Amino acid sequence: MEKTFHIKSLEELESFAGRLANCLKGNELILLSGDLASGKTTFTRFLVSAISKQAGEEVNSPTFTVVNQYETENYPIFHVDLYRVNRFDLSDFLGEGLVIVEWPDESLFRLKDFPVIKISFQVAGDNERILKVSTDEKSGITDCL
Ligand SMILES: Nc1ncnc2c1ncn2[C@@H]1O[C@H](COP(=O)(O)OP(=O)(O)OP(=O)(O)O)[C@@H](O)[C@H]1O
Ligand SMILES: [Mg+2]
Repeated sequence: MEKTFHIKSLEELESFAGRLANCLKGNELILLSGDLASGKTTFTRFLVSAISKQAGEEVNSPTFTVVNQYETENYPIFHVDLYRVNRFDLSDFLGEGLVIVEWPDESLFRLKDFPVIKISFQVAGDNERILKVSTDEKSGITDCL
């Protein structure tokens, strides 16, 4: 299932992230792809904020650390940035909380044991983005959104 969302401002991205947060159980793998500065980290900040306002304030780009972990009232969130990282083992994190990956590598798209949500970001203007959200059958996210 794939759904396309035309986001026209940061505010619209924030409300989209809030809607997605309400659909999550906390065991999903969210793969964020798209060009540099297309909005992956900004989206992650809105999504984490919607789950836990305090945790949202900690979100920054984990480019040098590869993984940031945020604690929330409900479940931990692992924020991974694989830009220029060739190989990284996510198995310690998968199933332990919500896992959000910027610049996922090909192998992650083939994971079958976890609900995977793929979101691609396309720049459509200064503040406009086209988001394509696709899922396998294991997460009813596209129905929920
Ligand atoms: N509607 C929007 N959605 C997302 N970002 C937006 C939007 N409008 C403006 N922006 C701006 O675009 C920039 C997106 O940068 P961000 O770091 O989130 O991108 P990224 O995809 O994580 O980049 P990188 O690949 O370097 O990690 C931010 O400065 C943000 O404020
Ligand atoms: Mg980023």
